Amino acid sequence: MTAIELTHVSKIYGDSQNSLTALDDINLVIDKGEFVAVIGPSGSGKTTLLNIMGCMDTITKGECKISGKSTIGLKDKQLVEIRNRVVSFIFQHYALLTNYSVYDNVTLPFVERNMSKRDCMEKARHYLNKLGIEELLHSKVKHLSGGQKQRVAIARALASEAEIIFADEPTGALDSVNADNLMQILADLNEEGKTIVVITHDSHVASYAKRKLAMKDGRIISDERLCSLIDESEERYTGNE
Ligand SMILES: Nc1ncnc2c1ncn2[C@@H]1O[C@H](COP(=O)(O)OP(=O)(O)O)[C@@H](O)[C@H]1O
Ligand SMILES: [Mg+2]
Repeated sequence: MTAIELTHVSKIYGDSQNSLTALDDINLVIDKGEFVAVIGPSGSGKTTLLNIMGCMDTITKGECKISGKSTIGLKDKQLVEIRNRVVSFIFQHYALLTNYSVYDNVTLPFVERNMSKRDCMEKARHYLNKLGIEELLHSKVKHLSGGQKQRVAIARALASEAEIIFADEPTGALDSVNADNLMQILADLNEEGKTIVVITHDSHVASYAKRKLAMKDGRIISDERLCSLIDESEERYTGNE
């Protein structure tokens, strides 16, 4: 089953006098259950690609299908529905409501789902616990450190229980231990069947993924299936003999 399919997708910013091609004729199929890392230099189009796959941005040319459904011609309400239910984002700069509590932020995806308070609390605790920050449940976000805010943002993305998770440099504000914890959480969710697409500059972070896309100047310049970490170290070992 296909999670995301981009056919001849281009994204051009600006007008005919002054245009910038952020994505240049992208063809890409990501199947359900894949764990994909997107790497590439700054300005190569990684964030634009993620935003388009998550219905956060419109395309100039081509077609994008999410779970087999074309996004062409969808009304705002239908796009909001996809953003609320089918995909979830871990943003680079958290995008949290800083004057609200961690609980309020993490349960935001439940607002339109008529969930009981008890279920909201249970799920909030579950995902905060997964990230090792359950004790922050009642804290106001504005009082948290950068690393804690990042983990709340991740808990919120997980709480929506969408089948596709997009993360744009999610480990940027975390130390290496917390970064590994997060990637392990994403790897576990991938094992449970979630489709995950992560943008990263960090080759260690990318090594958790099973497929690596490299971008340059709005194009995908390589598309590699990766072995697991264990297979890679075995290969290195054999190579040194
Ligand atoms: N809203 C925008 N308006 C104009 N240009 C943009 C906009 N967003 C991104 N760009 C440009 O598109 C290109 C790709 O940007 P981006 O997708 O953010 O790259 P990356 O995430 O790889 O750093 C860059 O040249 C950037 O300046
Ligand atoms: Mg970016």
